Amino acid sequence: LDEITTLLHRAYASLTEIGIDYKAAVQPAEETAKRIARGECLVAEHDGIIVGTLTLRRPTRFDSKCLYYRRPRVATFEQFAVEPALQNGGIGSALLREAELRAQAAGAHELACDTAVSAKDLVKWYVDRGYMEVDRTRWPGKRHESVVLSKTL
Ligand SMILES: CC(C)(COP(=O)(O)OP(=O)(O)OC[C@H]1O[C@@H](n2cnc3c(N)ncnc32)[C@H](O)[C@@H]1OP(=O)(O)O)[C@@H](O)C(=O)NCCC(=O)NCCS
Repeated sequence: LDEITTLLHRAYASLTEIGIDYKAAVQPAEETAKRIARGECLVAEHDGIIVGTLTLRRPTRFDSKCLYYRRPRVATFEQFAVEPALQNGGIGSALLREAELRAQAAGAHELACDTAVSAKDLVKWYVDRGYMEVDRTRWPGKRHESVVLSKTL
């Protein structure tokens, strides 16, 4: 748990630097555990060390503050990060692909996520991988507006 939490801190620091207050950048291990418990945690390993992670949540999040996530057959993911020194090596794409396959196998028709509207490069990263902007949302307590991105599986 600590290994995943500190990986999230290192990876999400790049977003904090551009002024986006993501919880994953500072969250304690208890929060990581809570999020993992309500989903399925994928990890990428290199030499026995966790270098990437993604937590998949199966449909349906009926109580989500994000209305799009309440739709039936929409799986979602969060806590998505790759060790900064190993980014741009395809690990993130591989984790996302695995999440898409697992979501599809669980009966989902879409896989969705959200990120800050201002994280333009990151939004492009998703668009390049088949994700489309489907909604906007503002999470309670957050300064930034988020874009909801989804891919039909
Ligand atoms: C987003 C992230 C998980 C991608 O993982 P990755 O292993 O670097 O991704 P890949 O190597 O599979 O993809 C490389 C591609 O993404 C681009 N890229 C890498 N990091 C990026 C970033 N932070 N923002 C935008 N584009 C990025 C590369 O230029 C490359 O472009 P290509 O389309 O020409 O191939 C990783 O960069 C990361 O951990 N970022 C910080 C945390 C984060 O933003 N999480 C998602 C929150 S919604």
